[in-house]
Amino acid sequence: MRAGRTLHIGMSLAPTWLSGDAWRRADSGIEGHFSSDLYLDIARRAEAARLDFVFRPDTLFLDARAVEAGPGFASLDPTLLLAAIARETSRIGLLSTMSTTFYPPYVVARQIQSLNWLTNGRAGWNIVTALDGNENFGLPAMPSAQERYDRAAEFTQVVRALWASFPFEALRLDRAAGTYADAALVRPLDHEGTHFRVRGPLNLPAARAPIPLVQAGASPEGRDFAAAVADAVFVSTPDREAAIDIRKDMNNRAQAQGRAHGDVLVLPGLSLYLAASRSEARELFAHTHARADRARKIAGIREMTGLDLSDWEETRPVTAADLPPAPAKVRSRTHAELLRRLIAREEPPLAELLRRPEVTGSAHWRIVGTVDDAVDEILDWAAAGAMDGFIALPGGCLDAVRLFLEGVVPRLVEAGRFRAAYAGETFADHLRD
Ligand SMILES: Cc1cc2nc3c(=O)[nH]c(=O)nc-3n(C[C@H](O)[C@H](O)[C@H](O)COP(=O)(O)O)c2cc1C
Repeated sequence: MRAGRTLHIGMSLAPTWLSGDAWRRADSGIEGHFSSDLYLDIARRAEAARLDFVFRPDTLFLDARAVEAGPGFASLDPTLLLAAIARETSRIGLLSTMSTTFYPPYVVARQIQSLNWLTNGRAGWNIVTALDGNENFGLPAMPSAQERYDRAAEFTQVVRALWASFPFEALRLDRAAGTYADAALVRPLDHEGTHFRVRGPLNLPAARAPIPLVQAGASPEGRDFAAAVADAVFVSTPDREAAIDIRKDMNNRAQAQGRAHGDVLVLPGLSLYLAASRSEARELFAHTHARADRARKIAGIREMTGLDLSDWEETRPVTAADLPPAPAKVRSRTHAELLRRLIAREEPPLAELLRRPEVTGSAHWRIVGTVDDAVDEILDWAAAGAMDGFIALPGGCLDAVRLFLEGVVPRLVEAGRFRAAYAGETFADHLRD
């Protein structure tokens, strides 16, 4: 997939517009959180705006204490939800998330390929190695990041081999001759690796369209893995320089693997708090995060860096010299590294540190402002070569979703940075536009 002038835009169905205290708004639609209607409405609007895809992240654990204050990670199964959206949409890509740490590859290959048939070639797989949930799968601890990526590499190889084990071309459907499929083209894999033994073939032929692979996780191992297999990476880049760095690095790594410059699209998450005026947008953001728990943020910083800030004055700057050696095991090295980078570069006072996306928002790029502000900043990042597109994560209220799809996106079309019409039919086609 080549990087060009057209941005590639995905819309998260996370739902970020319910996070923090946003679900408490009268118009949040929280009652529909476990029904398909709310998501269908957004997917249809995203398709009307000709976005590349809608995307459902996923985890396989629940923090029972956190549900007191909000839905958190309580969610529908992503692939089932997207299957419900499949027949109600016709062009937009549907990107599901399935973990290589917990699922068996045969199940992932089958479910994602099923979604590909149900959508006429619009399915994608977001490959995650997962952050938590081992106790739900009989594992005493989370495997180390290195082990998870080793497994992810073999897992992905097996999934692709399963998709190739019953190729589309094998289907003959020749009524006169009585030949349903060319059995010579349907072959077992007989895979015997370190982590998996899978005979195959898959009990489902591949649909005609290739399935885009997206990866999230940006440690050196994560980047190498993505450079080898992914069509796009979902990245956390709280500032433009972080995005420029990772895009250059991904291009170098992809070339080192024999792939072309731009083959791996770099798509930062973009958290959007949008309103008619800047002050309303700031209010929306403040209101959403009003109850954000200081103790949880301090615990998060401790987990990521080993630094305990519980007794610190709010005005005291946090500097690189305060950081102990990096802990041997953190949940996400990507997020830990982004936090260390912020502290080293800006030495922010504690109160400021606690407001930053590296602490409050998965380290995603964040715009709090008007449609104009969002358009200007997106065009600025695009002109600086900081990204190939982004995944929109609207926050605070459902209106932020509408302002993005009906306000920001048309302006990107006017600016010549986004498509006015779909050129192709499949998810892979959109990523190649
Ligand atoms: C932007 C981003 C999004 C992610 N989304 C998910 C997700 O939806 N589900 C999940 O289980 N893990 C998710 N992860 C975790 C990664 O799959 C990975 O396990 C984690 O980042 C550790 O890998 P690393 O050391 O390369 O950072 C995400 C990570 C990043 C950076």
